[in-house]
Amino acid sequence: MTLINNMVGRKIVMSITGLALVSFVFIHLLGNISLFSGPDGINAYAKMLHSLGPFLWAVRLIMAVALGLHVIFGIQLTLENRAARAGKYAATKHLSATVAGKNMIWTGLLIALYLGYHLLHFTAQVIMPEFSASRHLDALGRPDVFSMVMHSFRNIGISVAYVMAMAALGLHLSHGLQSMFQTLGLNNERTQPAVVTIGAAAALALFLGYAAIPAGIISNVIGR
Ligand code: HEM
Repeated sequence: MTLINNMVGRKIVMSITGLALVSFVFIHLLGNISLFSGPDGINAYAKMLHSLGPFLWAVRLIMAVALGLHVIFGIQLTLENRAARAGKYAATKHLSATVAGKNMIWTGLLIALYLGYHLLHFTAQVIMPEFSASRHLDALGRPDVFSMVMHSFRNIGISVAYVMAMAALGLHLSHGLQSMFQTLGLNNERTQPAVVTIGAAAALALFLGYAAIPAGIISNVIGR
């Protein structure tokens, strides 16, 4: 209880939940990249995921709790920081703060908004239900996730919205990853420049990896 009652404790919870979320984002990208190899890759991957049954639901529950804590503490910390700064503005103004660092709350809320849309789109499949994978099976009788994603991203508006959400994700992680190292005490003065560079490179790689999917579909590299 005392852990979540003080600011450092809440930052530690933010770091641990952030680590769980970014691990998911990385693994999810590895699964989605199989779209480049045609229907077989992603349809087999989705079928395997769904065959995990109770284990899949246990992971979903853990991730939902991690996301909930991350969002609630993120909002709380932002409000506390703003209140503290309002009291002694001149002393705490961070001239060196980056765009990513200053906008964590906004990129975070944008990602949460995107996630709500994404789950309705590809998991609940209530957005564009005419392309729902559970209604259309492939030649092997599996839900046709490949066709659902292809039809969705051929809509330029949807592709642009996804790429913008991925940009928010990249920006959020470019600050979040190095902040996590700092909070968990995994950096020092000597390693700090490397931590910043590696964090930014990982965020950029995730952005490019995810953005390559709508870009690949629009440009017909995927699904030729
Ligand atoms: C081009 C980008 C993306 C594509 C093509 C994509 C595709 C998909 C698909 C097809 C599913 C449904 C899987 C299934 O149930 O069969 C899914 C679920 C999901 N995606 Fe994505 N995704 C993308 C980006 C993201 C990003 C950036 C995030 C996180 C910020 C994310 C988070 C999730 C979550 C949380 C689920 C639900 C997983 C579950 O069913 O338990 N996705 N995605």
